[in-house]
Amino acid sequence: MPVVNYRSEADVVVLEIDHPPVNALSLAVREGLLAGLKQAGADAAVKAIVIAGANGTFPAGADINEFASGLVLKSPITREVQAQMEATSKPVVAAIAGTALGGGFELALACHWRIAANSAKVGLPEVKLGLIPGAGGTQRFTRLAGPEAALDAITSGTHILASRALELGLVDALADDVVAEAIAFARRAAQENRPLRIVSDLADKITGVKANLFAEFRGKIQAKARGQLAPFRIIDSIQAACTQPKDEAFRIEREFFLECRNSPQRKALVHVFFAEREARKIPDVPADVKPLPIRKAVVIGAGTMGGGIAMNFANAGIPVDLLELSREALDRGLGLIQKNYAGSVTRGSLTQGRVDQALSLIKGITDYEAVAGADIVVEAVFEDMKVKQEVFGKLDRVAAPHAILATNTSTLDIDAIAAATARPEKVVGTHFFSPANVMKLLENVRGKRTAPQTIATVMALGKTLSKVVVLAGNCDGFIGNRMLQFYTGEAEFLLEEGATPEQIDRVSEGFGFAMGPLAVRDLAGNDVGFMIRKGRRIPADERWSPILQRLVEQGRLGQKTGKGFYRYEGRTRIPDPEVLSLIEGVSRELGIKRREIADQEILERLLHPLVNEGAKIVDEGIAIRASDIDVVYVNGYGFPAYKGGPMYWGEEIGLAKVVETMRRLAPSHGTRWRPAPLLERLAASGEGWSSVRSG
Ligand code: NAI
Repeated sequence: MPVVNYRSEADVVVLEIDHPPVNALSLAVREGLLAGLKQAGADAAVKAIVIAGANGTFPAGADINEFASGLVLKSPITREVQAQMEATSKPVVAAIAGTALGGGFELALACHWRIAANSAKVGLPEVKLGLIPGAGGTQRFTRLAGPEAALDAITSGTHILASRALELGLVDALADDVVAEAIAFARRAAQENRPLRIVSDLADKITGVKANLFAEFRGKIQAKARGQLAPFRIIDSIQAACTQPKDEAFRIEREFFLECRNSPQRKALVHVFFAEREARKIPDVPADVKPLPIRKAVVIGAGTMGGGIAMNFANAGIPVDLLELSREALDRGLGLIQKNYAGSVTRGSLTQGRVDQALSLIKGITDYEAVAGADIVVEAVFEDMKVKQEVFGKLDRVAAPHAILATNTSTLDIDAIAAATARPEKVVGTHFFSPANVMKLLENVRGKRTAPQTIATVMALGKTLSKVVVLAGNCDGFIGNRMLQFYTGEAEFLLEEGATPEQIDRVSEGFGFAMGPLAVRDLAGNDVGFMIRKGRRIPADERWSPILQRLVEQGRLGQKTGKGFYRYEGRTRIPDPEVLSLIEGVSRELGIKRREIADQEILERLLHPLVNEGAKIVDEGIAIRASDIDVVYVNGYGFPAYKGGPMYWGEEIGLAKVVETMRRLAPSHGTRWRPAPLLERLAASGEGWSSVRSG
């Protein structure tokens, strides 16, 4: 089967890329295109060429596997295909349907003209894999749409709707039947002898560019892109498009592409990309288990989480009732939802029309009657077992027999909650992260008796709500929060031993975490953190720091009271000598002699406990595979995606090295530094995480 079909429509040849599922530009496709272009170019009866995709889409990118295998660099590379397109004396027109992304869009950009379906999307999302477009994408995009648009679109990797692409000049016309229109367009261009539009020669958008545009843009993305290579190489490359001769600018783009391709960041991001897809697979839930359709949802509790969860359903077009104890609590919750949506409109991330549509799907209620019409109920009431059991008992009585009863608990025992019902097979954890309307992660939690169909339904629900989904087993804190306590706990021990909050957060953020552990505590509320700790069954011989409790006793609850580990002016954190003396007091009390702690030790002490507890979680089958843990940490806990997640990080530095470091630190830091048995086994055998899988 050829992967590029050569089809004649009278005097126009259509080269149709047919390489399911997404027509990725793998080596065979590039070879097919090159051969087709040559054949059509040499045939005097052919007046014009259209490039299109079968399977409803233009190529949605390069073949990601080829980055690892190196085939992406094997001739003919995309640049050679493009050179052939630009060298041909006949009009070449792209017919863009579905999604033209990455290498696929770069291919389209090298055509003389582009026709897009009204529903199509285009974009250069390479940055998300730690790459820059390497086939002239930064150059041609900039020449068509100008550097401002290019900087925004390529450093963020966003998908661009066809209508916007037309405004930006990236495509030349929109159509319903895109192939027919592209054929007609190409034929007209040939008949009229229209001068061929070589995009890489266009110059009007790249002349007279503001001198400080690029420096300003680097500053603008500094906070978000800190530590990353690709976004800055994209800026350099767009700058080259505007300031260097064409050939030199293309050479620079290629050089930066190769630099990024060879960087550990690209490898880590590709790991995360595949890990997120793998996480959806549940070995003991076969693919033929059909998820239940979710047409109507009810959320119980309109607090911090309930409101955000309701927004998720509404954004996905699913009607949702929000149930509260009282009218006042309900009004407060609904008010917060409105405020959140208003913020999205102000920021430009949602249109007023979309918001009105979503709001019309959310209804506030105060009695349980409406629960009967729901396919799923998500409970988000106080984190208190008695309250949850009471709610589930009630839900069991009123909900439809097929309905799924989900809990948003962040730590409690799913089986104990299920025991309050006569349908434990329908009970499951759906752990959203705060703010639930923003955070990408959904950590589903299976109880002992949760049915395969219930699991399949909440996994599919994650996709419907545009979340990254992972399935965890039932234990204290599940995957994410169970590991977190060792990370934040270690931060507090470091404080007792001599570090300051700002030093710890600086090291963590320097590594790439979105926010350091103590700043996160202040954001979530130290009272909440303390309450969760009190709820844990801490073994008598386990060390734990009294610092959190002291802060709470002094009313230092975090951002919400203007002081916690820091003092706050607005949201700006300011080191506070009062906190330091509180910490020093604790050190004295505990008889700990404070010492200078090197940044390197802080980093080791923060990260190793994550890997170690992660190993236990894999060993116990709480996570199906180690890479699921990476997905949880990258999407729910601010772990830098470009470092691949804690388990990936451990394997990259070497599991034997992780064990060695733990053994070195164990004598002075107690039993929690004893390496997990799985970690020791892997270190001894030299195997990696992929050798261990449950199910
Ligand atoms: P919250 O205190 O902000 O909201 C709880 C809401 O539930 C309140 O508005 C309360 O009036 C309502 N409520 C209490 N009992 C009720 C009942 N019987 N029927 C109807 N409504 C009732 O709490 P938050 O932070 O939203 O937490 C809710 C759940 O989500 C907890 O299980 C928590 O552990 C979990 N969670 C919280 C996260 C956070 O960052 N706040 C993150 C992830 C999970």
